[in-house]
Amino acid sequence: MGRRRFKKKVIEGLTITGIADKGKGVCRDETGRVIFVDDVAPGDVVDVLIYKKRKAYLQGSVQHVQKYSDDRAEPFCEHFGTCGGCKFQHIPYEKQIEYKQDIVDNALRRIGKVEIGEFKNILPCDEPSFYRNKLEFAFSNKRWLTYEELNNPEVSNVEDVLGFHRAGAFDKILNVNKCHLQPEPSNQLRNSMKAIAIEQGLTFYDVRKQTGFLRNMIVRTSTTHEVMLNVSFGMNDKSKIEDYLNEVLDKNKFLTCVHYTINTKLNDSWSDLEMIHFFGKKTIEEYLGDVKFEIGPKSFFQTNTKQAVRLFDVVKEFAELSGEENVYDLYTGLGSIALYVADQCKQVVGIEEIESAIEDAKENCKRNDIQNAIFYAGDVKDILTTEFSEKHGKPDVVITDPPRVGMHAKVVDMLLQLEAPKIVYVSCKPSTQARDLNLLKEKYEVLKVQPVDMFPQTHHIETVAVLKLRTS
Ligand SMILES: C[S@@+](CC[C@H](N)C(=O)[O-])C[C@H]1O[C@@H](n2cnc3c(N)ncnc32)[C@H](O)[C@@H]1O
Repeated sequence: MGRRRFKKKVIEGLTITGIADKGKGVCRDETGRVIFVDDVAPGDVVDVLIYKKRKAYLQGSVQHVQKYSDDRAEPFCEHFGTCGGCKFQHIPYEKQIEYKQDIVDNALRRIGKVEIGEFKNILPCDEPSFYRNKLEFAFSNKRWLTYEELNNPEVSNVEDVLGFHRAGAFDKILNVNKCHLQPEPSNQLRNSMKAIAIEQGLTFYDVRKQTGFLRNMIVRTSTTHEVMLNVSFGMNDKSKIEDYLNEVLDKNKFLTCVHYTINTKLNDSWSDLEMIHFFGKKTIEEYLGDVKFEIGPKSFFQTNTKQAVRLFDVVKEFAELSGEENVYDLYTGLGSIALYVADQCKQVVGIEEIESAIEDAKENCKRNDIQNAIFYAGDVKDILTTEFSEKHGKPDVVITDPPRVGMHAKVVDMLLQLEAPKIVYVSCKPSTQARDLNLLKEKYEVLKVQPVDMFPQTHHIETVAVLKLRTS
């Protein structure tokens, strides 16, 4: 017998009481079952169309708003509601901060059951808009249509656009006129690149057919006013590429560095592609405190530069370095944290899987005349072994800053074997951090957790936890 089809239904008059992971609103039905609702604010009273039913929860979308919450703000972006990027713009920033504190608390203490000595108040961001130093946009020959547009026979989706992927939809691109996440000249550059492409009659990518000349672009800006542009093309037509990029340079004199790549793969990722240097410097310059970084086109760098300094200051404070420690910095990127703490420890050893990031880390080391940092390229789960620790000495402090999936189980096992007296765990996903903290529980207690808001207007949140090796 097949599974019974779920029949959609509307539940009226529900009051949104909080915000859960991924930014969804939370309310309950008459039986007390949790319902996650898209695009609402706590305090809203809404009629909800339930579109998904699971054993422990329901999921729904707003069909009608009976009363808007008193805690709502006017969204400042014309793309709010259609762009999935800044889902919290309708919530005042002070409230966003409160909800994020709850999101971390829920993920770590309530759901994760992690015991925390001191759960600190979130560090807010001084600049809640135009705070990002990097954005990626996609070219597409089809525009994503809103629900209303879809039902209007006079509106066509055949249009060359340059903007963001809709969250979770690889083939839906929203045309962006002005984005409030990255400071100028980001908008100026993107809009000019679209206009030049149309003027030159270039084709925009067709994601479904996998055809078209222009595919993606990444803009990186820095507090030192350098601007890097990376473009990916779907076809290797050198003369067309040169004509296009020369015109882009001509109209955007502020560019300090341009790379491009040819991507004929099915996916958009850049990490396995060769970057061809086209103009200016190969890297972009940035500072974190006194440490100068040159960032290559493929290197991960914290996307909110000013708030990254606050985040790393928390790491430093939690690590309590005296100058004598052997520190491991796992998932080091281009060595940001390693180089930031190098003047306060005896030695720091960084591991990162992207080779070009490690090359950048080594260059950054020389540039800053740092003599006590060593870097290795490779997967942490393969590099971090007992032989590695015999070679470099047992760590006194391990700093770990994994991607959203958290640490590989082999890495957690290795940390349990290494028994560093202290671990400072930086995370961009509290639920995977909770999982890892629980795995480390047999030998470590969590002394403190500090949430840091790096991404205002979104549900994303960074947390730093400090763990101490249990003595008995
Ligand atoms: C959240 S970033 C942190 C980077 C760095 N700590 C910083 O603050 O700039 C995670 C980093 O881990 C790297 N990474 C992801 N999986 C990895 C793995 N299995 N082994 C080593 N590095 C990995 C990514 O390339 C990225 O640079």
